Amino acid sequence: VLAIWHQLTKAEIPELAKCSVLMRDRSRVEDTIYAMQRAGAGRLQVISDFDMTLTRFAHNGKRVPTTHNILDHRLLIDEDCSKKIRELLNTYYPIEIDAGRTAEDKLPLMVEWWTQVHELLIQQRIRKDQLAQAVKESSAMLREGYKVFFDRLTEQQVPLLIFSAGVGDVLEEVIRQNNVFHPNVHIISNYMDFDQTGVLRAFKGQLIHTFNKREGALSHASGLRVLQGRPNVLLLGDSLGDLTMADGVSEHQNILTIGFLNDQMDERKELYVKSFDVVLVKDETMEVPNAILKYIT
Ligand code: TMP
Ligand code: MG
Repeated sequence: VLAIWHQLTKAEIPELAKCSVLMRDRSRVEDTIYAMQRAGAGRLQVISDFDMTLTRFAHNGKRVPTTHNILDHRLLIDEDCSKKIRELLNTYYPIEIDAGRTAEDKLPLMVEWWTQVHELLIQQRIRKDQLAQAVKESSAMLREGYKVFFDRLTEQQVPLLIFSAGVGDVLEEVIRQNNVFHPNVHIISNYMDFDQTGVLRAFKGQLIHTFNKREGALSHASGLRVLQGRPNVLLLGDSLGDLTMADGVSEHQNILTIGFLNDQMDERKELYVKSFDVVLVKDETMEVPNAILKYIT
């Protein structure tokens, strides 16, 4: 019977047969997708990372900016600050993606990175009313097929939790300008705290970085009413740290994790295949998540 089922997904979700799609255990993936399809849209929630998961990694050979890097605009920060933020990126990003170090090992270094960048941003007295312009003039770009993804979840009334270690205010502006900031979208991120005159003075709440999403999941996501009664989770991420974003889902039944492997493909392939259920290698599109969603909702 199983063999017939498996041929079925091949026919119904041919996107899963592409050579850029890697799976440790294809039959587990298919069984999970079937279980989610039988339970339906009313039992589903989608939890996604933002930078380099919903946004592209690169376009025409050029890196697409993360929410932090969108702030690298003369309207908001001066040249000296921009230089320092880039130096920090060059120091810490290779550590973030280093397959030879554990998350535990990376954690204090990520705190160092985020803390220094946020302090530099605060010193610049960034103005809230200039964020939209900076986003507009940036090369921020969501993955191809993003509109189908957001629109389908809205139509099917499936909540989408975007869980990002980026900057929430910038993230919101990116999805607003792309016309997909729908009412079913919920965001957990680092939000800016502005004074009465609209000048950045701090970041709100506990810092979220790549490797402490589990804490945020337990303290924030688990309390979100709209996510309750939805035990099936489709999780999307590009970092191994993103795998903990669903840790706050109580009484989960089926979780399918999809990982975008954007960078250091050879070094990280094995680790990603071991960790995510579905790995998308150098895929700048939402084709596979969209095909799965179309099937299960
Ligand atoms: P994410 O959780 O939405 O993916 O956002 C975190 C990403 O932001 C992470 O992969 C590293 C990146 N980042 C920058 O690009 N520049 C920075 O200054 C910082 C602190 C993080
Ligand atoms: Mg990311």
